[in-house]
Amino acid sequence: MDIQKTENVILLDHPLLKHKITLLRDKRTGTNEFRRLVKEIAVLEGYEALRHLKTEPVEVETPIEKTIQPTISGKKLCFVPILRAGLGMVEGMLSLVPSAKVGHIGLYRDEVTHEPHEYYCKLPYSIAEREIYVLDPMLATGGSACDAVKLLKQKGAKNITFICIIAAPEGVKAFHEAYPEIPLYIGALDRCLNENAYICPGLGDAGDRIFGTLK
Ligand code: PRP
Ligand code: URA
Repeated sequence: MDIQKTENVILLDHPLLKHKITLLRDKRTGTNEFRRLVKEIAVLEGYEALRHLKTEPVEVETPIEKTIQPTISGKKLCFVPILRAGLGMVEGMLSLVPSAKVGHIGLYRDEVTHEPHEYYCKLPYSIAEREIYVLDPMLATGGSACDAVKLLKQKGAKNITFICIIAAPEGVKAFHEAYPEIPLYIGALDRCLNENAYICPGLGDAGDRIFGTLK
């Protein structure tokens, strides 16, 4: 699979995004700065992922004259972070669309099998009519991403986009094979997974770094 040329796999390449992801990777970056960077990266990625939003004309009166100008039309947006690490991206996305609803899906990876386990799911009403953006900084094996999308589909979701910060080729392949119709936005594509299914070079455990629970 040539990830660079795969439809619906969008590898973002803005220099600001690259710079911030490099800072995020640095093991000397502490919790405070890590959180700030995740938020800023979510803004940059969200800006791209929301590029297709439709606008509709409204009348506005400037100090000079009345004019017809575009506003975002009433699309029902919903951001769904995968707990815990996806929470770090919510504020950035909400800074772009403050009126969006927010759902939550709780998944954790078993340390031995690396299989995801669901422990929480709370979504807004009318999920079928909403444009859903699933947020998780890390796409490693792809297991969590696939389970989150499976759950959303079971609940009736139809229009889903996935946004991650760092992805491993293994996870991209697994996700795209399972859900080729779902746009996958990636901030950085890394080399591979290690024997513990961590992304190399990656940034370590995103949830632990955001919430300061590193052992
Ligand atoms: C991390 C990350 C993803 C998942 C990715 O969460 O935030 O949800 O691992 O790995 P995968 O692609 O192999 O499924 P983790 O399970 O460590 O939970 P946490 O966010 O609570 O730390
Ligand atoms: N989850 C993380 O937080 N980091 C990885 O490298 C893989 C899964």
